[in-house]
Amino acid sequence: MAPLICNLTNQSTMFSKKPLSILLTESQEEGGLKRTLTARNLVALGIGAIIGAGIFTLTGTAAATNAGPAVMLSFFLAAFACVFAGLCYSEFASMIPIAGSAYTYAYATMGEFIAWIIGWDLILEYLFAASTVAVSWSGYVVSFLNDIGVHLPSNIASAPFDYNSSTGELTSTGGLINFPAMFIIGIVTTLLVIGIRESTRFNNIIVLIKVAIILLFIGFGIAYIDPRNLTPFIPENEGPGLYGWSGVLRGASIIFFAYIGFDAVSTAAQEAKNPQKDMPKGILGSLAICTLLYILVSLVMTGVVSYKVLNVPDPVAVAVNAAGPDLFWLRFPVKIGAIAGLSSVILVMLMGQPRIFYAMSRDGLLPPMFGKVHSRFRTPYISTICTGLVAMLIAGFAPINLLGEMVSIGTLLAFVIVCTGILVLRYTRPDLERPFKAPLFPLTPILGILVCAFLMISLPWHTWERLLIWMALGLIIYFLYSRRHSKLGKLARSRGEGEDTP
Ligand code: ALA
Repeated sequence: MAPLICNLTNQSTMFSKKPLSILLTESQEEGGLKRTLTARNLVALGIGAIIGAGIFTLTGTAAATNAGPAVMLSFFLAAFACVFAGLCYSEFASMIPIAGSAYTYAYATMGEFIAWIIGWDLILEYLFAASTVAVSWSGYVVSFLNDIGVHLPSNIASAPFDYNSSTGELTSTGGLINFPAMFIIGIVTTLLVIGIRESTRFNNIIVLIKVAIILLFIGFGIAYIDPRNLTPFIPENEGPGLYGWSGVLRGASIIFFAYIGFDAVSTAAQEAKNPQKDMPKGILGSLAICTLLYILVSLVMTGVVSYKVLNVPDPVAVAVNAAGPDLFWLRFPVKIGAIAGLSSVILVMLMGQPRIFYAMSRDGLLPPMFGKVHSRFRTPYISTICTGLVAMLIAGFAPINLLGEMVSIGTLLAFVIVCTGILVLRYTRPDLERPFKAPLFPLTPILGILVCAFLMISLPWHTWERLLIWMALGLIIYFLYSRRHSKLGKLARSRGEGEDTP
């Protein structure tokens, strides 16, 4: 057993680290999660989580209001931030291939308190993103149903309140409940309880559909590019974040949302057949494929139509319409592609969250029921059901743009902590076996920290305020429950002050 710790005294349990030897033993325990995922499944999981509302909606917003045709550069810059973080995630996921993702990595390197912070923070990324994307799904489905003559009453397809981010006020929408958003979360949750193999099969199919439709859009749309739409490539600056280079940067912080999800691959590490080799393939492979697709989609979109008309919920459909009657046939598949894309994002996000709860519960930081694995399905069913219920309530009733803004800041914070963890561990445990090493050390984690921190700073102040409130709530739970029930803490107390754990 390789010792990795730390003084486990009563005073220091908050900062005690979980030995890697224990983590690795836990990953091999009988009766735990089932190892069924191949490298291909993991790449599909990544693509499933990445391509969604970002490309189908935000590309248009960022092009129209911030970057113009240079939204391609925004995609490139945001990918840059993700690549550094992706390399650090890959190093961790191949070294500590067990459930829990960044939470587990932080527990092993920076101690329990930071691990709790990141575990709590990841709820913003996974659970809130699932609800946010379910609301987009609802929008696309309602519009699709309208196209085929089925009209849902609008008050059952909208939450009662909306949030105005410029005035900070809640306004009534006239809606009662967003039923379609709750419906998709219910379906996905059921699938996730039944089994990871079934869920990944479903994911593989919808990933194929959405990638095929994106390729159709690129392949057919490229012939309709009018170079006049692409000039000036970077429109003249009209104020902070409004076109020019500052617009490209602001566009990158918006577009960042489109890349969220590649790290979700690491939450399934304990269900991968060969995690040491396949985790890096899953994380970096999905990131590379999506970056290429995103840059091409944004080129075609802003080339076919003027960026000025793209500030709509369905910019891909607007570009298809603008190409003329020859491409009208693509309008229908594009909506199906968006619905499929959004479904798989919800699936992977709702798959990631319970696996983090599972890991936290196993460590005693959450009640034991969250760590229960179903005897037949071998899935963390209670945490999956709880996650699904909360995500459903949020999607059905909460003002979603308020939550959507927090997804990006929460994810960026997680990336900063993961990059810091790699930095710390290379110095404190150079001896550990690293099947995958992030190249150009220490440049990669340092740049990862700097670029992500920069993107966090470019987010509005009110997003920071909410992050702080969310974190304060997390601290209350930590001190009232988690710290007292922590298994590592209990171990330390039973050994008495001043002893070291083997
Ligand atoms: N990257 C995911 C999306 O764009 C969250 O929907």
